[in-house]
Amino acid sequence: MITAVLNQKGGVGKTTIALHLAAALAARGAKVMLVDADPQGSALDWAAAREGEPPFAVIGLPRPNLHREIPRHAETYDHVVIDGPPRVNELARSALLAADTVVVPVQPSPYDVWAAREIVALLREAHVFKERQIARFVVNRKIVNTAIGRDVVEALAEFELPVLPTALCQRVAFAECAAQGRTVLEVDPQGPAAREVRALCEELLAASAGGQA
Ligand SMILES: Nc1ncnc2c1ncn2[C@@H]1O[C@H](COP(=O)(O)OP(=O)(O)OP(=O)(O)O)[C@@H](O)[C@H]1O
Ligand SMILES: [Mg+2]
Repeated sequence: MITAVLNQKGGVGKTTIALHLAAALAARGAKVMLVDADPQGSALDWAAAREGEPPFAVIGLPRPNLHREIPRHAETYDHVVIDGPPRVNELARSALLAADTVVVPVQPSPYDVWAAREIVALLREAHVFKERQIARFVVNRKIVNTAIGRDVVEALAEFELPVLPTALCQRVAFAECAAQGRTVLEVDPQGPAAREVRALCEELLAASAGGQA
């Protein structure tokens, strides 16, 4: 599976989800490579902040030809996860072309729902070349015990993209892990954040295996 985590909106959780998806896939015993396709290099910074090797390979590839380079890298990995840039540019288009699965993080805010139009339009464009590509929204930073997460799922129904059932909640553990170069799977493997990450990973694998667009 080559999964791109994409949304032109900044700060929605692309890097957080890409890192945790890579970690959850690695925890299942897969050989995983995380490709940092964002010139900001956040995933590379995460790896540099870390003590010891991460449970997956991390490479920086913020280049518009990554759809041609990734298949070569992907040969020796079970899964490749691409952390996308915060804009619609040639890097985002290239990541989209490389991917068989696309994850679009959205925060439970009307601004995020409105901003999703741009990435949905891009996905529709890519569909011409990538007929079998799977794409899903993931709600990130849902506030526990509020209806806001449910509201955003209703608001996202205007798009043809399905929403994965598990949302990632707003949790301090995610922010702390970012600074330490760790993941919630390592910090608190039985905690709620780790459970959400594992559930998300399983749902994505099931959607990908199902192959339904
Ligand atoms: N579920 C969450 N709970 C708490 N903090 C979160 C959560 N998701 C993301 N964050 C924090 O929000 C900030 C932005 O997240 P992240 O860097 O993953 O977004 P991004 O979409 O990759 O941003 P950019 O567009 O700049 O690449 C980070 O500090 C991250 O730790
Ligand atoms: Mg990022």
